Amino acid sequence: MSKKRPFVNRLNDLSPKEWLKFQKSWFVHNPPPRRKQVLRHPAKFPETLAQEFIQFFTKHEQIVLDPMVGTGSTLIACLRAGRHGIGIELNHTYSEIARKLVEEEQTILGQVAEGFRAEVITGDAAQLDDFDLPMVDYVFTSPPYWDMLHSRGAMTQRRRRTAQELDTIYSDDPADLGNISDYDKFLDRLVAIYAGLRPYIRPRSYLTIIVKNIKKGGRIYPLAWDLARRLGDFYTLKDERIWCQNNVRLAPYGMGNAWVSNTFHHYCLQFRYEPGL
Ligand SMILES: C[S@@+](CC[C@H](N)C(=O)[O-])C[C@H]1O[C@@H](n2cnc3c(N)ncnc32)[C@H](O)[C@@H]1O
Repeated sequence: MSKKRPFVNRLNDLSPKEWLKFQKSWFVHNPPPRRKQVLRHPAKFPETLAQEFIQFFTKHEQIVLDPMVGTGSTLIACLRAGRHGIGIELNHTYSEIARKLVEEEQTILGQVAEGFRAEVITGDAAQLDDFDLPMVDYVFTSPPYWDMLHSRGAMTQRRRRTAQELDTIYSDDPADLGNISDYDKFLDRLVAIYAGLRPYIRPRSYLTIIVKNIKKGGRIYPLAWDLARRLGDFYTLKDERIWCQNNVRLAPYGMGNAWVSNTFHHYCLQFRYEPGL
């Protein structure tokens, strides 16, 4: 009689049941309400979502990097999951908020977070040599969605503009990728930043990039697909998972006139760093 082989898990600390659940190529994740401090940031992803990915792609005590960490969601998720986290963020205000939130989380978690690095570096992700980065086991990140925050049309932007203290753009720094108006130049600089991470990524580790295709001026700029294709020169594109949100009110864009969807999904692009392949 054949004996059942024991489950050997080299990637993470999940049970077979938990592993299987993550394997579905789409999922619904409705972000919980945002805390006041992070409302200021126009485009953050939920810590709960980051934690699910981090727990799948790393083991306890491994190191996660987010080269554009915003207000620190990735680092909060790392602390909750018992991973070390390092985040780089260009904007001083966001990196300060991230530091504060990390401290608050460390206080809440107490002993559980003791000994875990949760470091926010204020700086340009295009200048990685300036920072003393260790080798990391996973990259989890999301880029600026081109210069969309400069677009006056977007409904959320209109609402944000009327609310006090809510940013409508990240910064006016020329190093901020969200300020590059030429799509191809933006894509080149973003790809260069991601490609530049290679010396710090342990071979065979994964990268997840949360990204959307972008609607602008009546057409789609396929940022998710372009990134998938272009980064394939440096990493192996493994897969996509589609993150759907179904708690957002539908808006009647183009109704009676033209097809304009309400885009409530993001691509979670999975790459693996496989040098020599
Ligand atoms: C989509 S947001 C990331 C949000 C983050 N995931 C969170 O949950 O708060 C992209 C971030 O990239 C930052 N950024 C833009 N250009 C950068 C650069 N060259 N180096 C580092 N960060 C940059 C922006 O300031 C912005 O906070």
